[in-house]
Formats: sequence, C-alpha cells, structure tokens
Amino acid sequence: MCGIVGVVDRNNLASPIIHEALKRLEYRGYDSAGIATIYQNKICLKKEKGKISEIHEKLDFNKLLGTIGIGHTRWATHGLPSKTNAHPQVDCTNKIAVVHNGIIENFLELREDLAKRHNFVSETDTEVIPHLIEEIMAKTKCDLHTATRRALQKVKGTYALVIICTKESDTLVCARNESPLVIGVGKNANYCASDIPALLPMTRKIILLSDGEMATIHHDKIRIETINGEVEVQPKIVNVSWTPEMAQKGGYPHFMLKEIHEQPHALNGTLMIRPEVINKTANVLNDSEKLYITAAGTSHHAGLAGRYMLSKLSAMQSQAIISSEFSESTANLIDEDTTILAISQSGETADTLNAIKFAKDNGAKIVSITNVMGSTISRLSDLTLYTQAGPEIGVAATKTFIVQLASLALISLQLAEIRGMTDNSEIEQIREELFQTPRIVENTIKKHESLIRDIAYEYAYKPNFLYLGRGISTTTAMEGSLKLKEIAYIHSEAYPAGESKHGAIALIEPGFPVVFIAPHDDTRERIIGNIMEMKAREATIISVADENDYEIKKLSHKMIGIPSTMGILSPITCVTPLQLFAYYAATKRGYDPDKPRNLAKSVTVL
Ligand code: M6R
Repeated sequence: MCGIVGVVDRNNLASPIIHEALKRLEYRGYDSAGIATIYQNKICLKKEKGKISEIHEKLDFNKLLGTIGIGHTRWATHGLPSKTNAHPQVDCTNKIAVVHNGIIENFLELREDLAKRHNFVSETDTEVIPHLIEEIMAKTKCDLHTATRRALQKVKGTYALVIICTKESDTLVCARNESPLVIGVGKNANYCASDIPALLPMTRKIILLSDGEMATIHHDKIRIETINGEVEVQPKIVNVSWTPEMAQKGGYPHFMLKEIHEQPHALNGTLMIRPEVINKTANVLNDSEKLYITAAGTSHHAGLAGRYMLSKLSAMQSQAIISSEFSESTANLIDEDTTILAISQSGETADTLNAIKFAKDNGAKIVSITNVMGSTISRLSDLTLYTQAGPEIGVAATKTFIVQLASLALISLQLAEIRGMTDNSEIEQIREELFQTPRIVENTIKKHESLIRDIAYEYAYKPNFLYLGRGISTTTAMEGSLKLKEIAYIHSEAYPAGESKHGAIALIEPGFPVVFIAPHDDTRERIIGNIMEMKAREATIISVADENDYEIKKLSHKMIGIPSTMGILSPITCVTPLQLFAYYAATKRGYDPDKPRNLAKSVTVL
C-alpha cells in the first residue's frame, strides 16, 4: 500500500519522471499524491488529495524544477486523505522531505517527545521521520545518511522510505524494513521505487534491497549498507525480463481488461515452467506430513482450488487457510514435519508474510507461488515457484489467479504421478487438457465477450447477487463474487450450491440474480437440482456451463457456454466469463475497475 519513488538524474528534470512512475504505482493507493524536488537549494513541493491525474490537472507536477526528487501515492492509514496528510512530509525547516510506505508503530511516543521542539502539521505517523532527521543533523552535524540511520534506530515498525535534503542536493537516501523497495540502475541516473514496473521505462537493471538495508544513491553511484550494523553490502544487479510495454495499457481502456485478454499468454508462459521445478516442488509437498495452503483474497481462492486438485488427483491431504487467520487457527499444529504452501501474486501481502513467519518460527518448511521475482515471500521461502503472468497492474487480480491455478494443476499432476494415485492415462489426459486451456480461454473471450458485456449491462444495477457452484466450482464462484464486489461495488455472496438451501435461499425473490458455475463434471446432476430450487423461487438464472449442455441452457435465463474439460481444470476455463462480467458491470456503473475504492493491490499492513 502506498507507492513511493525517488529519482536522481544528472541530465533530466526529475518531476516528469516521478510523475509517470507514480502513475504506474497508482494501483498501490490513490487517495492523495505528491512530489518534492530540490531546486536552487530549496524543497519544491506539490501535493494534494485525489487521484494523480486530478492533482496534476490542478497543480501541474511537471513544472517542478530540479534533477532530484521523490514522489508518493497514498493509501491512508494514519489520518484522512487530505493535502496535509499527503506525502512528502517535511521537517520544520522545509529542508528535508520524506516519502514512506508502511507504519511507524511507535510514532505516538516519538511524536510526543519531538512535539516539544518541533511543529507537527499532519496526523501521519510518517511526519516523525523528517523531524527526527532534522534534530539529529542539527545536533551532530552529520550527513543525511548517518542521520537517517540514527533516526531509524529509534523507529519501530515497517517502512520503505526515500528521503532528500537540501544540504545534499545530489543524494537520495532510502531504507527498507518489511515494505517493498527496489533500486533501478540507469545511465547518469539512478532510481528507487516500490516495485519493478514503476522503473521499467527507465531501466531493467534492478537491485533488490533486503529488509534492514539502506542505500545512498547518487546519479553515478549507489552504496548499500545494513541499517543496524553499518556493514557494506555488495549490490547484486538483476536484469529483469519484463518490458516497459508490459506495464502499459496497450490500447485497452483499462489494465484489468488488458490483463484478462493476456490470460492465454500468461497461461502459456506458466505451463512452460521447467518440469524439474515442478517435480522438486511436488516432492517437497510429498515429503511433508502436514500441508497447509495459505493466502489472502483471490490467491486464497486459488489455494482452495489447489486443495481440491491435490485431494482429487493425488490423495494429498491439505488445508487451505486464509493467511490473516493462519496463526490463530493452526496454533500448536505447526512443526518440523509441516510444509506451508504460500500463494501471493505480489509476494508482499503482510498477512501472508506474517503467516509464513509464524510457520517458520515453528519449524515448518515454506514453499511459495508468486508472480514477482525477488519479492519478500520468495526470500522467506525454502523453494519458490514463479508464475509467468508478467506485471499485473489492475488492482483486481485476474491473470495472476489463472496462472496460480495452472501452477497448482501442474504440481498436483506431478504429485499424482509420484504418489501413483491416479491412473497414468488419466494423468496424461488431464495434462493434455491443461495445455489446451490457453486456447480455450482465448476462444471464450473471442466468442463470448460481447454476450457477457450485454448480460452485465442488463444486470449491472441489481443490488445483490448469489454465486453458486459445487465441488471445485465453489472456488470459482467465490472468485467471481469477489470480483463483482470489489470493482462493481455490488453486494454478492458465494456459496457451495448444496449449502444454499440451509440459509441463503431465504434471500431469493422473483428476479434475484443467481450465477451458477456448472461445468460438466460429476457434480452436474446435483447442481441441476439446485438450479431447479432457485427457479422454483423465480430467481434469474445466469449460468457458466458446458456449451453443449442444453438442459442447463433451457433452465437458464442467460448462459455462457464453455468447452468441456476435465472437472478439475474448470476454474481455469470458467473464471474468465466471471471476470469479464464484473469488469463490464463496473464500467456500466461508471466505476474505474483499475482503482476500486478503499482497495490497494498490495496490502502491506496487517
Ligand atoms: O498479492 P496477493 O496475491 O498476496 O494479494 C492478495 C489479495 O490482497 C488480493 O488477491 C486481493 O484480494 C485482490 N483485490 C483481488 O482482486
């Protein structure tokens, strides 16, 4: 949450570069934004409440002069979204400016003391940092990086920080503790930012800063050291394969729509993961006595689907637990014989990282699935499997979900082979079908996008929806429902269809829209029964079902037909219509699906 960026460039104005980078980081938060540069020995600052484009229209960020600067796009934690609470935050003398992502836990205590000598203007936790640095520099006459290090030794909490000071107008100082921060190495320019896509148009040479490290960045040199030990760390430059185009809309009105359309490509990339990596992952899972899958949000839905895959294909027992509940619900259950399969597209979700740390402390082995190279989750894991979706910018996870499913299917099939639980010919058939899923998803989009748009437009103003499925399709229903809630702001609930008669059916009245995920698998007969129950109460039935299933077609008011696949793969083929449905419902209602209210892509607070 919150996106931060820093630029020190010998030849170019920093502010237009920061402004563009902030736009690429806006998915991390967008209630206010700001940029500060140093020009003629002064901090020049523009910040305001609102989205970056609105603020830019009003203030014109690009008019800020200076070749060094920092920027921030905010997701409020301490203090309402407002101009005063927006970052950068400055000290009393207006010589030090700071951008921050994270939470300073002991800020009240620090503020109480500093307020005796300093003038605080905002409600933010961040504001203690510039005042602390100001005080240390004034007292000890030290340089910015020393003052920052000393200030951070007083601070408890999580942070990615970038700091500038007029006394050193060629220096960015940045530091990281549990909030993501990467450094970009350019030509006569260097950068830092919350993520790699923010820097792609400037450089693909990246240094991944670790927790507890800080860096002093000039246009031609970068020095990294540990915050506590002052030990110099040799920077390791990674050449990333993501391209700048991947982080642009490429002609689509929204990233979300682009990313839905990229799903076939993302699936193809992920299905090419080297068999040795899949085999190694499957073997680690096989060796564990207890297996827990943990994740949040959409990644949790992938984890739930993974549990069905593991049990059906390889008779592997597992539990999928929402990461924010993990430590509570597994208290006294984790030990050296436990393996945790953690799933997170960003690799930075605080709840999931917290679950991992808890499990690690209790001796568990950690295997992770993530889409972001070098992300914190990969550093905490014994083994990481990287999905190949490319950068996902839209706040609503789409292509990263589908590739999580594909990688879980690959692992489950491999486990089935290792454990000899499924017939070899069946394994081969499912594997072949898995490799057909990119084509199926592509055809579904081509064939049905306009139908789905029409259905979404027709029902976009219904206030409530129910999503029902059976077996693994329950997880598809959960994901479809989450998408509708988070971007179209329509209340919806997802249930196992069989459970709906135990409560949710009481909601049904004539015209209530019920979305059934009903692929042709061994739950079909029963789900037809559930459709009948809803029809008997005059619900409107929208179904995602096998294109040749005329019985379900007859029972449905609207049906989106998908080619039949083995049941276990159906979340991969059924979810795209639900993503498109949510997308078009959101746009019909006039909402920006890339920036849903109150949400941020990477949730780095607990
Ligand atoms: O980066 P992660 O996969 O760990 O993120 C987990 C959730 O925050 C995320 O899936 C969230 O639910 C999205 N808004 C889904 O669209």
